[in-house]
Amino acid sequence: MALSLAGRPPEAQSLQILRRLLQEGVRFFDTADTYGLGPGELHHNERLVAKAVAEQPPAQVWVATKGGTVRSAAGEWQIDGAPERLYRAICESYEALGGKVPIPLWQHHWPDPRYAIRAMLQPVRRAVDEGLVRFVGVGNYSLDQIRQARDVVDIVSVQNQYNLWHREAEQDGILAYCEEHALVFLPWRPLGGLGLAHRLDEIPAVAKLAAEREVSPQRLLIAWQLAKSPCILPIPGARRLDHLLDCLAAATLTLDRREVARLDALTPADLPRRARSSAWEQRPPLASR
Ligand SMILES: NC(=O)c1ccc[n+]([C@@H]2O[C@H](COP(=O)([O-])OP(=O)(O)OC[C@H]3O[C@@H](n4cnc5c(N)ncnc54)[C@H](OP(=O)(O)O)[C@@H]3O)[C@@H](O)[C@H]2O)c1
Repeated sequence: MALSLAGRPPEAQSLQILRRLLQEGVRFFDTADTYGLGPGELHHNERLVAKAVAEQPPAQVWVATKGGTVRSAAGEWQIDGAPERLYRAICESYEALGGKVPIPLWQHHWPDPRYAIRAMLQPVRRAVDEGLVRFVGVGNYSLDQIRQARDVVDIVSVQNQYNLWHREAEQDGILAYCEEHALVFLPWRPLGGLGLAHRLDEIPAVAKLAAEREVSPQRLLIAWQLAKSPCILPIPGARRLDHLLDCLAAATLTLDRREVARLDALTPADLPRRARSSAWEQRPPLASR
């Protein structure tokens, strides 16, 4: 996402970053149809990823995209779950990702409360049947909505926010449900997102443990997520290659139970706050009909 939003590197540099990650063995990329500077740049990030992975045998790279949001003229994210719009979004993503093989993982970005889960996922089921999509995931769904979704179409992944600031998945039963049903849990904003991810050393317990393990606080938190559940696949974002390589090295950083417990013990009072919280911290506004 960060490679397509404001402050992004030039395209040639972004492609270099993605190619290097492929060389390092990264095989999963999370993107979305709306990752771009605004409504004039729909599919920017999908095309970027598609360009980078085009040199790879398609079966070996998982490109996970999303649909179900739009961008307003001002660039604000909005939810649009109109079933006919979702089907069109899938067709457009299929083309943006190369148009040759099914989208490896298509995720419904946000549920739209104006539509039943069944109504929103019927066109997705159709896209699977037509060979446009291989596997389906959901994002920002409640446990009840995940259960409803699985009655309509096979679901393989759930993408909800999960980081030190947002631990809801531990309490709302979603992590446990993913483990029980072998779903992948993709924690979005694993480091707290732009604005907080660079302030992790302000959290004394994080800074201390990172120093003890001689790693960055960011690498430590990715390792913490990996230790929390076998179904978690963290998707850190960054504009800098060294940051991404640093996160990648968390794959070989094993935390013991006591180290995990030290991070688990952090409460909101221990954490820095976002200087300016985004207008849609809970949920983006609904697109007008
Ligand atoms: N489904 C949804 O609704 C939703 C919403 C938001 C995001 N997402 C997904 O989640 C992914 C990650 O979210 P995000 O980018 O918002 O938040 P994030 O991964 O928590 O944080 C991104 C920030 O972390 C910094 N960073 C990463 N690794 C670092 C390191 N090793 N050392 C220092 N700084 C480091 C980056 O810095 P630099 O940029 O300076 O390199 C960037 O500012 C996105 O790419 C997107 O795929 C999904």
